[in-house]
This record gives sequence, C-alpha cells and structure tokens, in this order.
Amino acid sequence: MATLTMQNVTKIFGRDVIAVKDFNLEVKEKEFLVLLGPSGCGKTTAMRMVAGLEEVTTGEIFIDDREVTELPPRKRNVSMIFQNYAVWPHMTVYDNIAFALKLKKLHKDEIDRRVKETAGMAKIEMLLERYPSQLSGGQQQRVAVARAIAVNPDIFLMDEPLSNLDAKLRVSMRTELKAIHDKAGSTTVFVTHDQSEAMSMADRIVIMKDGEVIQVGSPDDVYHRSGSIFVADFIGTPPTNFMDVKIQKESNGTHLVNTHLNLLLEPEMAKHLNGYDKNHIVLGIRPENIVLVGESDAALSASCLVSEPQGSHQVVAIQLDDNIVKVVAPPNPIIAPGTDVHLIFKQETLRFFDPDTTLAIND
Ligand SMILES: Nc1ncnc2c1ncn2[C@@H]1O[C@H](COP(=O)(O)OP(=O)(O)OP(=O)(O)O)[C@@H](O)[C@H]1O
Ligand SMILES: [Mg+2]
Repeated sequence: MATLTMQNVTKIFGRDVIAVKDFNLEVKEKEFLVLLGPSGCGKTTAMRMVAGLEEVTTGEIFIDDREVTELPPRKRNVSMIFQNYAVWPHMTVYDNIAFALKLKKLHKDEIDRRVKETAGMAKIEMLLERYPSQLSGGQQQRVAVARAIAVNPDIFLMDEPLSNLDAKLRVSMRTELKAIHDKAGSTTVFVTHDQSEAMSMADRIVIMKDGEVIQVGSPDDVYHRSGSIFVADFIGTPPTNFMDVKIQKESNGTHLVNTHLNLLLEPEMAKHLNGYDKNHIVLGIRPENIVLVGESDAALSASCLVSEPQGSHQVVAIQLDDNIVKVVAPPNPIIAPGTDVHLIFKQETLRFFDPDTTLAIND
C-alpha cells in the first residue's frame, strides 16, 4: 500500500492542447479517491501519466517518497483498468488473472494462491475455467478487476470501469468494487464523469474542469458546500437551482429580492454577506431544500409547469421567467400542471455565489 502524489503536473499535447494544467493531488494510503469531471477535462490523461503511459510535460509524480515521473510503467507497480476492460479472449479466467503473476516469475503455488484469493474477492471463483466469451459483461468486469488486483499494486487506477455496463449492473458493481477495495485495501483512484457514481463510492472527490482541479472534498463537502457555481451545478440530480438576486438592506434585516422573491434572511445567513461589497449575488438552493407550504407562509409562489413522479418523491418544475426551478416534493398528491405552488427555502442550506467570479461567498 502506498500514497500517490502529483505535484504541479501539466500535460500539453502537440503545441497547445493543455489536457492537464498544474495538477496537484495527494491520495492517502488505502484511500478510494474519485476523479470526477465532464468529458474532455483531462481525467484519462492524468491517470495515464500516473501509470507511465503518457509522458509528463512538467511536474513530478511520487509513489510514497519514490519519484516515478520518468520510470517506465512496469517499474511503477501501478495497475490500471480501462473503460473497455479488455480481458484476453483466448485465455481462461484463471489464466487471465495468472498472466501477470507468471511474468513476475512467482512460484506456481503462490500464483495459485493469489489467483484464488483475488477471484474470491471478485466473486468469480466458480468461473475460473471459463473463457471470457462465456461470461456476462459484469463478470468480465470482475475478471479485469481481479487481474489488476492480483499483482498487488501500490496504486490501483480505474478509468471509467463501469461505463460499458447497463444501468442496473453499474449500480450493483459500484457496491462490489467498493467491497473489493475494502478487502484488498489498495490505494485507488477511480475515474468517472457520473456524479452519482462519485458520490456513492468516494472517500474524497476531486472535481476537474478544463484540466484543472476545481474542488477537493468528501462527498458531503462537495455536495453541501460546493465552492463554485460549476460544482453546485455538476453535483446532484436534479442540480442546484440558481437565481440572480439583489441584496437589499432594510430596517428589519437583509433581503434577497428579484421579481418573484423577497426573502428576509435569518441573521445567521445574512452574516455571510458581511464584507461582500457588490449588490447582487447568485443564490443557489438544492431542490430538496425547497419546501411546499400553504399560501400564507410562502416566500415564493408560482405555477407548476410539470411534475415528474419518481416513486419515492416527485420533481416539480416551476417556471420563473427564463429560469426553471426544480423542487423535490413528497410523492402525493401529484401536482398537476398549472396548479399554484407555494414555497419556502431551508435557509441554512442556501449558497451564495459571486456572479463575477462564480465562487461561493459562504463556506
Ligand atoms: N493523444 C492526444 N493528442 C492530442 N490531444 C489529446 C490526446 N489525448 C487527449 N487529448 C485531449 O486532451 C484533453 C483531455 O482528454 P482526456 O482523454 O484526458 O479527457 P477525459 O476527461 O478522460 O474525457 P472522457 O470523460 O471523455 O474520457 C481533450 O481535449 C483531448 O482531446
Ligand atoms: Mg477518459
């Protein structure tokens, strides 16, 4: 087991494609770290540099305190599994897992022990004699995982390993991969662009955009204390609702005001705006933190555009000018389009963003 450190790592392809920019990352021993970001933000490139499959333009990479920046892949003790996990079709499951161990010239008995142990972790011990064509997608995925873990890597990299699987299998494989990680205890970096996958699996999430790290934190942190509009929008389904509002100081306190809303902030929340010298903010509120109430209690009233029943809840969409605001409401009664809905906000959950920098004002 080991730690992984990337220091000021930059990757430029050709003359001017900056795929990864001044990237800093510390993965702790046994940590399950998820690298999350939209397509093209540099996740795969970052992982390929750790594995030694891509040269670093500038910066350093360390495994524990051993610098590996210039080392060839086989000297790094890093395992990587890819999106198209590519198990070898002409080898049985047993041989797929044993292959790298044979290359290491381990004793036959040791190979046998490790193959059986990792196959057990991946729950494929009864499939060892089969060929990949005789396996389901999820089973092939497990073979890839077992094969990568069997070599006992210091660092285990997984680049979107679940993206080939159907939705239901993805969700169950999430749980299994986490369980395998807990047993094997390998320091792991898991890449995905699926925020719910990241939330459900990570010890910590690193959110990337345009080759740069935007925020690092626990799932709870990035969800409840999103540091920027980008993160608040990227994490959560449905995502955070945003509204442009004016800050208005009146004799009874600070109000947030727009054509639909006049919200008197509780003193605790108003405090966050002390020291902020502009008169507009972007207000962020998550759909589950808006509550349906009776008309007389409402901070905001509008007509329902559409409601999407989800079984356990319904997502009610209301239109405010050009802006659609989504509310997570109890499943019954289903709210019909055109019905007036009356809403209040759970104030302690509000996020305030600077419209110019797009960064959070409260932390
Ligand atoms: N070999 C290459 N030559 C030139 N540009 C490249 C090369 N590989 C990647 N890029 C560019 O670098 C950027 C980052 O690509 P990368 O594959 O790391 O993104 P990603 O975050 O893994 O995306 P996805 O979620 O789609 O897999 C992209 O703009 C991509 O076009
Ligand atoms: Mg990728």
